[in-house]
Amino acid sequence: MSSSRSESFFATCPRGLEALLAGELDSLGIQSTAVPGGVAFTGAWADCYRANLWSRVASRILWRVHQFDYRNEQDLYDAVKALDWPRSFRVERTLRVNVTAQKSPLKSLEFATLRIKDAVCDRFRDALGKRPSIDRGDPDVRVHAFLEAGRCTLYLDTSGEPLFKRGWRKVVGEAPLRENLAAGIVMLTGWKPDEPLLDPMCGGGTILAEAAAMSRGRAPGANRSFAFEKLSAFDARAWEKVRHDTSVPQHSPSLFGSDIDAKALSVARRTLGEAGVERWVRLEQADVLQRPAPAPGGVMVMNPPYGERMGSPEQLAAFYPKLGDALKQRFAGWRCYIFTADLRAAKLIRLTPSRRIPLWNGAIECRLYEFIIVAGTNRRP
Ligand SMILES: C[S@@+](CC[C@H](N)C(=O)[O-])C[C@H]1O[C@@H](n2cnc3c(N)ncnc32)[C@H](O)[C@@H]1O
Repeated sequence: MSSSRSESFFATCPRGLEALLAGELDSLGIQSTAVPGGVAFTGAWADCYRANLWSRVASRILWRVHQFDYRNEQDLYDAVKALDWPRSFRVERTLRVNVTAQKSPLKSLEFATLRIKDAVCDRFRDALGKRPSIDRGDPDVRVHAFLEAGRCTLYLDTSGEPLFKRGWRKVVGEAPLRENLAAGIVMLTGWKPDEPLLDPMCGGGTILAEAAAMSRGRAPGANRSFAFEKLSAFDARAWEKVRHDTSVPQHSPSLFGSDIDAKALSVARRTLGEAGVERWVRLEQADVLQRPAPAPGGVMVMNPPYGERMGSPEQLAAFYPKLGDALKQRFAGWRCYIFTADLRAAKLIRLTPSRRIPLWNGAIECRLYEFIIVAGTNRRP
């Protein structure tokens, strides 16, 4: 494993946000190449630390440690054991191995995972007479293997807990969005901090917290730790420098949130408080079908209920035309964005979307629909 200044990294993200992630890294001074599921970049450790601390869209930053051809599990074992793992992390660190695959000929990924774990542990035992313990829940060190048809890429994870865990969600509401997906949605709307932003179905307030953190110039990773701190390559001075480099503009945004459910609002209040942004957000209990616009124009972003747990398909089919009427009647001058897995939404709402952006919420295909609401137009018969 190289200790040279230029290392190879791969930043993963929700599918559909790769170009946004590349743009975000570019603004941090990191050039990257987007591929489905993430972006690849080379850089110094400081770039890796900066991406972990500042990326609002990435899920993890992985450090590429090796790439090799394989045909079977023994090839995996031999190649993994040949690496000097005791140089990468201390034997006292707990370990977890993750394997993902695309077109791999191997029958059992579980067995492949076991062989890779054995190889790492055997290398430690040969060198030191002891091996790291396995912790599947909260490991210090995660080894990721990505298996393709005949090629294996090995990574050490530099993030630890996924990056969407900002450290400010202490209570969880109903069907919350992951923070990096929420941040990506806000960025895709093109919202600028001097425009009002409203989430009228705000639930636990994820979209509002992300918009507030963005406009206040708050680093999404400021409240958490990272796995890179536990690797032997950790450069504490470079990390201190990255952490204290806070030349980010701060705005005073006008953010509005509402929800029909009082319990959801108390979750939102708690999250916004923990994130330290509550003073920028006005919350109220209201039905989206009744509430007035809080300003003559702005950006509305919402994530209506979806799925059996939150409302039957019939209830939602009845809801969308009413939502279309409410937008038309009260939100002329607003750009409205609906993020949903209900691909019937654009048809049911009876407004013509100006954009339909495909996004994935985990394995679920979703859309972000844009409706520019102009008085008297874009109503479909
Ligand atoms: C999928 S959740 C939103 C989750 C939110 N984006 C988050 O990340 O926490 C949908 C929310 O819509 C709210 N809701 C349902 N019907 C509503 C209505 N007619 N008016 C306002 N809110 C409503 C629910 O109470 C729920 O909190």
